[in-house]
Amino acid sequence: MNDPIVARSGECRVIAIDGPAAAGKGTLARRLAATLGLPYLDTGLLYRATGRRVLDAGGDPADPFTATEAARALTQTDLGRTDLRGPVADAAAAQVAAIPGVRAALLDFQRSFGPTGAVLDGRDIGTVVFPNAAVKLFVTASLPARAQRRWLELTAKGTPASLDEVTDDMRARDAMDAARTAAPLLQAPDATLIDTTDMGPDEAFSVALAKVREMLA
Ligand code: C5P
Repeated sequence: MNDPIVARSGECRVIAIDGPAAAGKGTLARRLAATLGLPYLDTGLLYRATGRRVLDAGGDPADPFTATEAARALTQTDLGRTDLRGPVADAAAAQVAAIPGVRAALLDFQRSFGPTGAVLDGRDIGTVVFPNAAVKLFVTASLPARAQRRWLELTAKGTPASLDEVTDDMRARDAMDAARTAAPLLQAPDATLIDTTDMGPDEAFSVALAKVREMLA
């Protein structure tokens, strides 16, 4: 089998961006991809769409068999759904993401994304999906800062939620992502840490772009 990591070794132009929810990695990844002319994959969508398929079928997202079947059956249409955000989808995504069979089913798709380079964001891109990525960024922020951002997003969309609820949900999801045995949320030893607690999106982008330029020079 052609291992894309081996095939690209020495010329792997993948930019891996990992970190917890609402740390700003999606915005950053999208801007980097647009600036560098690379395709972008939000890998959280794969887990969100898997969780949604399970819920639609009336299944339990924590059930390994059902969730793994849903991940294997995922189509491009699933990724374009408009109901992949919100507290229910968040929780289902974190549940299916803890199942090794689900992660295995989604690995090839992620590894074959953007054969000449790509920007991917998630939780395990720099540790598992592309351990030899050209650039690895670990983007984080304090829990209060991240919860406040998510709460503002939800409020702007008209989704009723209290800041306390959002904080509790985020704390629970962080704990699940960090504690699972399958590809836990972890900063790769060779990743650059960007703490966006006191940064706006523009500053985070400048810091990240400078790092990317340095690493890809
Ligand atoms: O990034 P996002 O918040 O959309 O991810 C939703 C969930 O999917 C996360 O809480 C995490 O459990 C899971 N995920 C993952 N690995 C990734 C991306 C997302 O486990 N690479």
